[in-house]
Amino acid sequence: MLATMAPPIIAVVNQKGGVGKTTTAINLSAAMAEVGHPTLLVDLDPQANSTSGLGLDPARARLSVYHLLTGEAAVEQVVQPTGVAGLTLVPSHIDLAGAEIELAGMPDREALLQKGLAVIPPGVEIVLIDCPPSLGLLTLNALVAATSMLIPTQCEYFALEGLRHLMYTHQLVRSRLNPKLAIAGIVMTQFDTRTTLAWDVLQTVRRTHPHHVLETLIPRNVRISEAPSHGKSVLEYDPTCRGAAAYRALAKELLER
Ligand SMILES: Nc1ncnc2c1ncn2[C@@H]1O[C@H](COP(=O)(O)OP(=O)(O)O)[C@@H](O)[C@H]1O
Ligand SMILES: [Mg+2]
Repeated sequence: MLATMAPPIIAVVNQKGGVGKTTTAINLSAAMAEVGHPTLLVDLDPQANSTSGLGLDPARARLSVYHLLTGEAAVEQVVQPTGVAGLTLVPSHIDLAGAEIELAGMPDREALLQKGLAVIPPGVEIVLIDCPPSLGLLTLNALVAATSMLIPTQCEYFALEGLRHLMYTHQLVRSRLNPKLAIAGIVMTQFDTRTTLAWDVLQTVRRTHPHHVLETLIPRNVRISEAPSHGKSVLEYDPTCRGAAAYRALAKELLER
C-alpha cells in the first residue's frame, strides 16, 4: 500500500509588490490543476487579488483565510470552488489587513497557518500560498507552513537586492522555525526578450543563485494582465497565448524537479 504523502505547500513569496506573485499563484495553480493535480490556492494577501482574479468577490466571502488563521474555522469550511476544474481557493478578505495586528497578540503567532493547514482537504495534491508584498507576520506564517518557496522576480536592477534579502530570510526561517523549508525556485517574470537589461539581470541572477533559477521564463504578455479582469486564469482566458504556454511549462518544470 502506498503511504499517503503530505502534499507540498509552496509559498509564492517576494517582499516586493508588482513582481508577479498573484499572477503566478493563479496561473500556476490553474496549470497544475489542468494536468490533473487537484490544487488548493490560499490567498494570504489582504489585497485579495488572487480571490478577485479568480472571479470571487472578496467582500462576500463569509469565511476567509482570517478565520483559518484565528482557528475559528477549519480549512474545509473556508475552502471554495473556482471556475477552474480541480482548483479550490481559500479566499482572503479586506479585513485581514487590520487582523495582522490582532494576530500578533496570539500565542504561536507565526504558526497559525501551519495549524490551519495541518489537515488538508482529501484529494488535494498541491497547495500554493499567495503572499502579501512584505515580510511581515502573514508572510512569516506562510514560510512556517510551507515546504518550499517559489520566488517570482522581475528583471530589473533592484531585483538582486531583494533576492539577497529573501535568501537571508530563508536561512533565518530554516534555522529558527521551519528547518525543512526548501527553495522551489526563482522564476523570472514579465520577461521582455527585446531588452538587454532583462538578459543582463537574468545572467546575474543565474550566476549568483546557480541552483535556484528556473529554466522557464514568463514573458511579458498582455493576455496575462487582461485575464484577472475576466475572473479567469490566462489558461482559460486565452489557452493558446504565450502566457498560458509559459505557465504550463512552469508547472511541468516544477512537477519534474
Ligand atoms: N507576465 C506578465 N505579463 C504582463 N503583465 C503581467 C505579467 N505578470 C504580471 N503582470 C501584471 O503586473 C501587475 C503586478 O502583478 P501581480 O501578480 O499582481 O504582482 P504581485 O502579486 O507580486 O504584487 C499586474 O497588473 C499583473 O497583471
Ligand atoms: Mg499580489
